[in-house]
Amino acid sequence: MEKVKITLIPNGPAKIEGSVKFVHPDGKEESKESSYICRCGKSKNYPWCDGSHRG
Ligand code: FES
Repeated sequence: MEKVKITLIPNGPAKIEGSVKFVHPDGKEESKESSYICRCGKSKNYPWCDGSHRG
């Protein structure tokens, strides 16, 4: 299994590099090669960062 790198961006999202499978609360599964996870709670596209942390 390849390693996944997670970088916590100051005052921003968690940048995830590497193949990851996300399981949403409704059970839907989604595979991504890279992603940005919102850590501020302001995203309109949660759990993905949409840049709202800047505003
Ligand atoms: S971290 Fe970017 S919108 Fe929340």
